[in-house]
Amino acid sequence: MVAVEGVGKSFGGTTAVTDVTFSVPRGRFLTILGPSGSGKTTLLRMIAGFIEPSQGEIYIHGKPVSAVPPHRRAIGMVFQRLALFPHLTAWDNVAYPLRMRGFDAAEIPDRVAAMFGIVQLKGFEQRRIQQLSGGQQQRVAIARALVFEPDLVLLDEPLAALDRKLREEMQLEFRRIQQELGVTTINVTHDQREALVMSDEVMVMDGGRVQQLAPPAETYRNPANAFVATFIGVTNFLPAHVASRTGSALRVRIGDLESPARLADPQLPTPPHGAAVDCALRAEHVWLRSGAPADADCSSSGRVMQCIFEGDRIVYEVAVAALGPALIRVIDRTPEAHLLLAPGAPVEVGWNARDLIVFPR
Ligand SMILES: Nc1ncnc2c1ncn2[C@@H]1O[C@H](COP(=O)(O)OP(=O)(O)OP(=O)(O)O)[C@@H](O)[C@H]1O
Ligand SMILES: [Mg+2]
Repeated sequence: MVAVEGVGKSFGGTTAVTDVTFSVPRGRFLTILGPSGSGKTTLLRMIAGFIEPSQGEIYIHGKPVSAVPPHRRAIGMVFQRLALFPHLTAWDNVAYPLRMRGFDAAEIPDRVAAMFGIVQLKGFEQRRIQQLSGGQQQRVAIARALVFEPDLVLLDEPLAALDRKLREEMQLEFRRIQQELGVTTINVTHDQREALVMSDEVMVMDGGRVQQLAPPAETYRNPANAFVATFIGVTNFLPAHVASRTGSALRVRIGDLESPARLADPQLPTPPHGAAVDCALRAEHVWLRSGAPADADCSSSGRVMQCIFEGDRIVYEVAVAALGPALIRVIDRTPEAHLLLAPGAPVEVGWNARDLIVFPR
């Protein structure tokens, strides 16, 4: 459906996107995930045909995007700056693409009404755009992008202005509609949860380059590099050295501790004995016990420095003398998590070898 081949974009001296290649098969949902300024919007606007790549080519349905004028492209779009018509009502905004595309006038009211139901805006149909809140306007924009059943939808942070509860509902709802209609979707976000919840594939970008393109579970479990490991989830980074390696079994020395570990990419050659590496350890993969030693492949004693209550989980910062000065972050989601360990409490921390992911430098 969409093929992006070796695409780059520079604005004068700024390089926004460098050598991006990927494709999206019909009916699939791809999320482009990355921090602010990583080139997400630029890439999406090139796919939409609004800006021209400096290098490479983009194909939709096998045809170069540049060959088809914007109004002939069957693309539904929601942009970061919503391009709604402020002087029209919400209803007329949603009906607009249907009128413009010459849909049967008798069919329009039913389609528009159905979309207002889907985006939970029944009763707001006759409001003008300025009379709606930011989140309501965003939902009008989503309705307008989907109402004509386009075969490709491009979304640029469409849910960013919604409160958390509504955003999480809309993520699931949007995913349901997308699968029901089988509409190919490219979604841009900096929200890792949204990317993991909604997508068939996640493309992580940083500095205009693709860092990893993989299904959500893969991005989470097997981050391709240190950037992806830090961007998705709460991750501790521990500088270490290779202590020993026997076949595929790898041991690293972190401070005064030695621990079994696994290489991030088993295809790569194991770094030699003594080589400096970085170890990623997700905060939710660290075990925390008060008193009894943790039942783990490697453990050490520490002291709680900080304890942050977040409702369904508790985030601890723990000083572990054997690991050096950096604090280890630990996320505790167990049902006993309401038993807060106060700052100063002595604890045992531990982890399993498979959760200590080694990245060669
Ligand atoms: N028209 C432009 N002229 C000059 N530089 C630009 C232009 N548009 C974008 N850039 C630069 O290109 C880089 C990528 O911008 P882009 O808008 O694609 O980022 P983004 O990933 O969408 O970020 P955000 O999450 O903040 O929306 C940024 O450094 C930005 O300043
Ligand atoms: Mg953007």
